[in-house]
Amino acid sequence: MFLRFILFALTLSTSLHVHSQQAAVASAHPLATDAGMEILKKGGNAFDAAIAITATLAVVEPYSSGIGGGGFWLLHVKKDDRNVMIDGRERAPLAASRNMYLDKNANVVPGASIDGPLSAGIPGVPAAIEHLALNYGKLPLSVTLEAAIKHASNGFKTDEHYQRMARFREEALNKSTDAAKIFLLNRKAPLPGTLITQPDLAETLRLLASKGARGFYQGELADKLVDSVVSHGGIWSKEDLAAYKVIERVPVSGEYRGMKVVSVAPPSSGGVALIQMLSMLSGFDFEALSDSEQTHLLAEIMRRAYRDRAEFLGDADYVKVPVNRLISQKHVDRMVSTIQLDQATPSTELSSAIVDAGKETDTTHFSVVDKDGNRVAATLSINYPFGSCFVAEGTGVLLNDEMDDFSSKPGVPNVYGLVGAEANAIEPGKRMLSSMTPTFLETEDRLAVLGTPGGSRIITMVLLATLEFHKGGSAGDMVNRGRFHHQYLPDKIFYEPDVLTETVLKSLFERGHDTEMLDSSYGNMHAIVLDKKSMQLEAASDYRGSGSARVIH
Ligand code: GLY
Repeated sequence: MFLRFILFALTLSTSLHVHSQQAAVASAHPLATDAGMEILKKGGNAFDAAIAITATLAVVEPYSSGIGGGGFWLLHVKKDDRNVMIDGRERAPLAASRNMYLDKNANVVPGASIDGPLSAGIPGVPAAIEHLALNYGKLPLSVTLEAAIKHASNGFKTDEHYQRMARFREEALNKSTDAAKIFLLNRKAPLPGTLITQPDLAETLRLLASKGARGFYQGELADKLVDSVVSHGGIWSKEDLAAYKVIERVPVSGEYRGMKVVSVAPPSSGGVALIQMLSMLSGFDFEALSDSEQTHLLAEIMRRAYRDRAEFLGDADYVKVPVNRLISQKHVDRMVSTIQLDQATPSTELSSAIVDAGKETDTTHFSVVDKDGNRVAATLSINYPFGSCFVAEGTGVLLNDEMDDFSSKPGVPNVYGLVGAEANAIEPGKRMLSSMTPTFLETEDRLAVLGTPGGSRIITMVLLATLEFHKGGSAGDMVNRGRFHHQYLPDKIFYEPDVLTETVLKSLFERGHDTEMLDSSYGNMHAIVLDKKSMQLEAASDYRGSGSARVIH
């Protein structure tokens, strides 16, 4: 009984929030947080810790991210006082084509961009791991990948979330011999507490540790990946793997009432939409508004930013994305001029854009700060829970289904005859549009490192947490704040159970808003806040998930 109490107390202290003056990690899985902490204790910096956490999450949270997936790592390099975005997003295979998921009648083939190797983009995580190690880390991959290799080889215990995710994807997992063997037990989602071992993945990670990215994208492993993908209907080639490159990008940045905001550039839509929304809000005395007015105003700015997202955002290396224009004062002023405080603007009254419906995705996020002040906010994904549910035979690599983040049917005129979603049409080698929004915030007194999974709702979750930080909220306040969301289409405010009061709901109805309470809460945010005066760090993991936040004192 006493032991149980200690365990309970420990669980509370890791999943809520804690203070420190040195280094901190918050991630979606306790084993990944531990892996990051171990690296920091061994003298690694935040970038080494990021490698360890990325690789460990790939092993222990296979439904969220993986070395068969991609992501964005937003770095603050303290010695140069520089922010940089590491773009390890998946790319479309070179044999991909605009209509590859449509049938002969130009209808989307159900599941084609979601299940199996045809849905997989070329992974970016292995290249990003090497890039981080070569350019930013201090420790060799043999050290930073040690924990991930151990957990792949010795196994990790599943929890209830694993069971839910595996149950959701059971049918698709059963279509891949290796996926079913690794992730299911007798073809069924395993009960919590089941040991999942991944010896092939351990071997693949050892190759990555000894040979770097070359061990993944070239040679025997690359041959196995391509052979397996192609023999199951996919279109990867060896050229695709050999050509994959991480790209360093300049993050997007903006300001909101004295607070600096740094976030990710395209091919994520997150940073642009976040900065647009905050710029729109700057024109209002937000804190002086009532709860009802604030909720209405937030829904209106979300609506407008998501409209622009649908029309303009895509991979800027392939299409012209007018980032500067979208976040310019002139454009923001024009959007604000259409907002009425006493009335909702129906989305149909804004100029029209085609929106792909929000999709069920699973992704992950972690935040790290080291004792030297280096920072990492990383959001990683394989898209749907367990990605494509396809494991390339003999490799242990679970492939993403990130191709589903492209517009499946671009160029089709909507009811107004307007053509949208062109910016995110499939092209060979192009990166698919993302909503991932790893972000840094900084005021005169404090700074924050944050992000969350959650598909199209990621950006509005980060917005709400940003506002919480701006008004002085702690990391715990940021991750645990109640959430609501508007994304232009469907024209509706979605909210977590009981987050909006009766008074707020009534006033939203009177203003013409449609609202819908969701069945459950959403998101899994991990944030770190530094008080610049006391140098105290606070790290927090979302109560909605089973992650952990830890600090080194
Ligand atoms: N696959 C989720 C995202 O990139 O937004």
